[in-house]
Amino acid sequence: MARIGIVAEQPAENRVAASPTTVAKIRALGYDVSVESGAGARSSFPDEAYAQAGAEIVGTADAWSADVVLTIDAPVDAEIARLHDGSTLIGLLSPALRPELLGSLAAAGVTALAMDAVPRISRAQSMDVLSSMANIAGYRAVVEAANEFGRFFTGQVTAAGKVPPAKVLVAGAGVAGLAAIGAASSMGAIVRATDPRPEVADQVKSIGGTYLPVIVPDESAQVSSDGYAKATSAAYDTAAAQLYSDQAADVDIIITTALIPGRAAPRLITAADVAAMKPGSVIVDMAAGQGGNVEGSVAGEKVVTPNGVTILGYTDLAGRLPQQASQLYGTNVLNLLTLLTPGKNGTLVLDETDVVQRGITVARGGSVTWPPPAVQVSAAPAAAGTGDPSTSSGTGSAPAPKKTMSRGAKSALTTVGVAALFLVCAVAPPPLPQHFLVLTLSVVIGFFVIGKVAHALHTPLMSITNAISGIIIVGAMTQIVVPNPLVQVLAGVAVLLASINIFGGFAVTRRMLAMFQKGDQK
Ligand code: NAI
Repeated sequence: MARIGIVAEQPAENRVAASPTTVAKIRALGYDVSVESGAGARSSFPDEAYAQAGAEIVGTADAWSADVVLTIDAPVDAEIARLHDGSTLIGLLSPALRPELLGSLAAAGVTALAMDAVPRISRAQSMDVLSSMANIAGYRAVVEAANEFGRFFTGQVTAAGKVPPAKVLVAGAGVAGLAAIGAASSMGAIVRATDPRPEVADQVKSIGGTYLPVIVPDESAQVSSDGYAKATSAAYDTAAAQLYSDQAADVDIIITTALIPGRAAPRLITAADVAAMKPGSVIVDMAAGQGGNVEGSVAGEKVVTPNGVTILGYTDLAGRLPQQASQLYGTNVLNLLTLLTPGKNGTLVLDETDVVQRGITVARGGSVTWPPPAVQVSAAPAAAGTGDPSTSSGTGSAPAPKKTMSRGAKSALTTVGVAALFLVCAVAPPPLPQHFLVLTLSVVIGFFVIGKVAHALHTPLMSITNAISGIIIVGAMTQIVVPNPLVQVLAGVAVLLASINIFGGFAVTRRMLAMFQKGDQK
């Protein structure tokens, strides 16, 4: 049975690699767990909570000498020296940026698994630390902006006068951007967002934002094939620059999250845009650590410009919610350990034929094993017949651009439909034409009504609509009395199936609505 060590991080890091809840679940996988004394203190997890979860509280050397060491930040040289030959290290190792670290880990005989190298595919979503941290960071960016902003986010009408809502622009609607849009709109601000990937428009809308497209003449939409943006064209950048200039003069808060993997952060907001903002405005440059989306932002710092605009370049936004971040990080690590412990017997088994396990293995058997072979991921729908569910992106729905029908084709189709309707009504015996007319009208009304319901509410809507099956029960019950065994059996089956449909629909609706209720309302 292997021993897992959870170590205390360097002083600048508030998070810890596993919460007491996670420790209990790791123990259920068959591992012994040692936690370095004080490791969870800055995340409000005292040693006693870990001890209650079944962990042994140990000193620094014992924690680092475990068979599997869980950390958040990459170890410094002195910590690598404490790892034993043949041990496994799991943490955020930035393999693309830190070849020397990988070399040291390989030389120490350590198997190094980088949590920040989990491929962005559906199957690996539950281990995707970058997404869970970006989600927290996006939320925290709004909290930081609200803290600096001298006004309400929400509009109010008070006895002392009318207060307009704050206007927020979010640049980049990936994981962090969507979290920022959700947080700012739930605080009552008017939120706008832009992104070169048009497929995010629906996601922005569903969480209360308005999507601002960058219109580029003669350029096809940049639908992403892998959930990430590609570098934008010069024409796009020119049109986007105009959009940012217009928005900077209008909005109170800008949150930038633009990222193109493998490149420096794209520069979106110029010094002139910042100079055009109103005094008291706030910018949070989430990409400050990668070169910055905003001219004048400084990584890790707060800067106030001569015209009174505050630019925050904090690079530790997730760590500013340490308890939440540690809990989610720990859950991601637990999901990885579950994958690596097929026997649930406290024995770690690394299967390098699996793309996820191979993708995160950056050092093994004394050699650096980074980069892994490329993983084909796709956020766009797979071509018909070639769909592989394991390779769809974790970023959710990303439909290909809809082919729009020409006006002529639409008119022709409508004419054919109306003619067919008249034909059926003319030749069918009564009461079929009546029923057919009702059906046609229902389809038309349903199309327009459901089309106006927000995407996020489609599931509860459909499950409630299931209750319409009630009419089947009424019909079946009138038939159940017919003295024909076949009719009675069919009527019984109809009652059963329609009941499942109705009650199942309500059960789904209840579950969905419960997701929107706070704990004590449940
Ligand atoms: P993501 O890949 O999910 O989203 C990035 C988004 O930027 C994508 O939607 C992409 O289409 C968009 N984008 C690319 N080029 C753009 C352009 N020219 N204009 C507008 N949008 C553009 O990445 P994620 O996970 O949301 O992270 C966003 C940024 O936040 C990254 O730079 C990440 O390193 C940073 N981050 C910062 C933290 C902090 O503490 N400051 C913590 C976590 C993440």
